[in-house]
Amino acid sequence: MKRDFLTIWDLTAGELHSVVERGLKLKGGEDRSKCPLIGKSIGLLFEKASTRTRVSFETGIYQLGAQAIYMNVSELQLGRGETIGDTARTLSRYLDAVVLRTYEHSRIKVLAENASVPVVNGLSDLHHPCQVLADLMTIHEKKGKLEGIRLAYIGDGNNVANSLIEAASRMKINLVMASPEGYEPDPEVLENARNGGSSEIIILRDPREAAGMADVIYTDVWVSMGQEKEAEERKRRFRPYQINAALLSCAKKDVVVMHCLPAHRGEEISDEVMDGPHSVVFDQAENRLHSQKALLEFLLSN
Ligand code: CP
Ligand code: NVA
Repeated sequence: MKRDFLTIWDLTAGELHSVVERGLKLKGGEDRSKCPLIGKSIGLLFEKASTRTRVSFETGIYQLGAQAIYMNVSELQLGRGETIGDTARTLSRYLDAVVLRTYEHSRIKVLAENASVPVVNGLSDLHHPCQVLADLMTIHEKKGKLEGIRLAYIGDGNNVANSLIEAASRMKINLVMASPEGYEPDPEVLENARNGGSSEIIILRDPREAAGMADVIYTDVWVSMGQEKEAEERKRRFRPYQINAALLSCAKKDVVVMHCLPAHRGEEISDEVMDGPHSVVFDQAENRLHSQKALLEFLLSN
């Protein structure tokens, strides 16, 4: 049976722990000269812009001994009306795995249902599990553990927030989220996470209350890809949710600040915090490379 990675739920807690630990070992140089995926080809299908996801996958795949084939969807027949199902069936005859970055989450589900090779979600409107895999690795790297960590997510209840909710539930992280009314995370994701795990997941309005005693403060952009028309209204509604020095003073002294990037400096995060001593955002970005290599090893050896 092939394994997909469409949401965090696709890996058990034990598997997530193993992938995180393997990512840390790869980062430390273990097996640097080994090429476990030699001779394989992995497709990267992108319908949205990307810096980190594209480059970390392309580089990681090369380091594992395989080749990456980047495809902008507008240049495929998919962009001219070929179905996702037929694209999946065709690509499965050439490729050993497919990474898709897309809009509606249903598109990646259809791709996975019709592909005979593993499918990885490189971001959809609803989830960003590869990001959160790297985030788990980063929290483990900086704090030495996952269980019992108090994570404050402040901002939009978007794809990254939804995947963080699932990861918190799986890994016993206590998650407090602060978002303005109408911008909360997906209710179904939240309900499943609350039913499926034993960690505390609290949604509130006040960013200072959320930041209180946090080990980790996390934010993301206020306007995600595809929401450009809502930009002005969103920037107005989210203004009190900026991660700045005043907000950081509510958290623990050794709090780390995370952001999946790209950042919109001066909006969801101030320059002083982004460039300050608590920020781990570029280590977090680097960890995309190591954690995704560990993920691909796992998916392609199953
Ligand atoms: N964090 C992240 O997924 O970044 P990109 O959009 O640059 O891939
Ligand atoms: N929430 C952001 C994440 C970008 C990596 C977006 O979807 O645009």
